[in-house]
Amino acid sequence: MTSVLFDEIGVLYTGDPEAEELAGAAVVIDGGTVAWVGPASAAPEADERVDVEGGCVLPGFVDSHAHLVFAGDRTGEFAARMSGRPYTPKGIHSTVEATRAAADSELAARTAALVAEMLAQGTTTVEIKSGYGLTVEDERRSLAVASAFTEETTFLGAHVVPRGVAPDDYVRLVAGPMLDACAPHAKWIDVFCERGAFDGEQTRHILSAGMRAGLAARVHAGQLGEGPGVAIACELGAASADHCTHLSDADVEALASSGVVATLLPGAEFSTRSPYPDARRLIDAGVEVALATDCNPGSSFTSSMPFCIALAVREMGMTPLEAVRAATYGGARALRRTDVGVVRPGARADLVLLDAPSYVHLAYRPGVPLVRQVWREGRRVV
Ligand code: NIG
Ligand code: FE
Repeated sequence: MTSVLFDEIGVLYTGDPEAEELAGAAVVIDGGTVAWVGPASAAPEADERVDVEGGCVLPGFVDSHAHLVFAGDRTGEFAARMSGRPYTPKGIHSTVEATRAAADSELAARTAALVAEMLAQGTTTVEIKSGYGLTVEDERRSLAVASAFTEETTFLGAHVVPRGVAPDDYVRLVAGPMLDACAPHAKWIDVFCERGAFDGEQTRHILSAGMRAGLAARVHAGQLGEGPGVAIACELGAASADHCTHLSDADVEALASSGVVATLLPGAEFSTRSPYPDARRLIDAGVEVALATDCNPGSSFTSSMPFCIALAVREMGMTPLEAVRAATYGGARALRRTDVGVVRPGARADLVLLDAPSYVHLAYRPGVPLVRQVWREGRRVV
């Protein structure tokens, strides 16, 4: 195993609440794991040395919400929105058609391209959902494709009710044969709980079935309007309630007292020209917040965590520190992971080196490609 010393770091953002930000620090990794973090003057010997030249080092981003397995394109829908049309979940059907028509090899190649795009922007852990197949076989193969890229796979058969199927029949299918086929390929179960998708009763039924099958829950909730999704996430002990753009005071209190992470997805508000979630309200109430891209062809076709950090700081009342924390430590919490999103001994050696002295530049210099190097499990990948 080779050890590597990262020396001459500008600011080290560790993501470790015990010592979150260090100046004059160095990091040593050994094989795929962080071995040592401390003052550069006390750094141990290592086989190799990387001179960070005063750049910022932080944990690889943890993108805890992405829909990467799809085919087709919805450029026209985006352009129509930018001339005033509202976003509606109905657009999902065109992606479903294209996805069903695509070969496994095409889905895998497209997913690989998006994962590579993410890696180049510093994302070393990504969650990938199904949800554009909506038949037993198309959901199963979507998850099989996703499993080749991440262990964070999510069964989202309950994305919308497919055309030509009665809602009650579809809910029975999702919670029965589709779940049976998908559970071996998935860690999580998710439901799009929203008007035009699945109501509270359907959401509770599907999530409960998934949990009985050994999956853990996460929920799309409060994207387009207030609804029962957040309360159900808290009641069932989901890891995360995602979107959280429209929340009642009771939702905010329930998130704070249950410890369910609120995962905010500002790429969706950007791309649907909608008001952003109020991160300040959540953080001030004591809610754990994560930031993720929601990368998908309909509502948020960005793969960039730095872009989401910049939006969160400029539009959602987050400080740069809070936004970087949400994109690393927060994402790890949303996936119930303690080995990623943090630079501390024992954690996975996932590091991002910036062409900037501080993580503040991620928001201060929006749109600028600041990611200089990416290391994943101790190997340089970018
Ligand atoms: O998270 N909200 C539901 N699903 C996606 C959008 C999917 C689509 O429009 O294709 C989302 O925003
Ligand atoms: Fe989503």
